[in-house]
Amino acid sequence: HLYSEGKTRAIGVSNFHIPHLERILAEGSIVPAVNQIELHPFLSQEAIRDFCRKHGIVVEAWSPLMKGRDALTHPVIVDIADRHQKTPAQVVLRWHLQHDIVAIPKSVTPSRIRENLDVFDFTLSDADMQAIDQLNANVRTGSNPDHK
Ligand SMILES: NC(=O)c1ccc[n+]([C@@H]2O[C@H](COP(=O)([O-])OP(=O)(O)OC[C@H]3O[C@@H](n4cnc5c(N)ncnc54)[C@H](OP(=O)(O)O)[C@@H]3O)[C@@H](O)[C@H]2O)c1
Repeated sequence: HLYSEGKTRAIGVSNFHIPHLERILAEGSIVPAVNQIELHPFLSQEAIRDFCRKHGIVVEAWSPLMKGRDALTHPVIVDIADRHQKTPAQVVLRWHLQHDIVAIPKSVTPSRIRENLDVFDFTLSDADMQAIDQLNANVRTGSNPDHK
């Protein structure tokens, strides 16, 4: 209602899996602008990303750095970071950007906030991207939206 009145310019959803999106597309009148889901190299969510791409829904990653856990110390990511003279967090954020995923990293540390913004002066190669893609293990840090 607010959207049709022009009071909101874009509305989105969070933690929607494909069946949830199928239902809102079938029963609702508005295609969500964005779907914010847990997404990082250990949970790459390819099927949801493909579905959203086909329907023009932007994918936004929450916990894009896997809450600072295993993804940032994985040897594949550390090695890529060393080769590009960037940090593992910067490599993970660059991986999101090159997949057209909006990433919203959180930090209370000023130097890390600056670090997380400094990701526009390098490019991961196709081989780098594929190596990170292969880390997917469907590991969640948060709850599964299919379960209560
Ligand atoms: N829609 C949802 O259901 C949902 C669920 C969860 C989270 N979110 C949102 O997603 C956003 C981010 O998620 P998140 O905070 O869970 O995870 P995150 O951004 O993946 O990770 C945050 C953690 O990583 C650390 N960190 C940040 N930058 C770093 C860097 N450059 N190097 C090393 N460690 C770094 C932070 O430490 P310091 O802060 O100590 O620097 C913090 O412990 C938040 O804004 C949150 O509101 C949404």
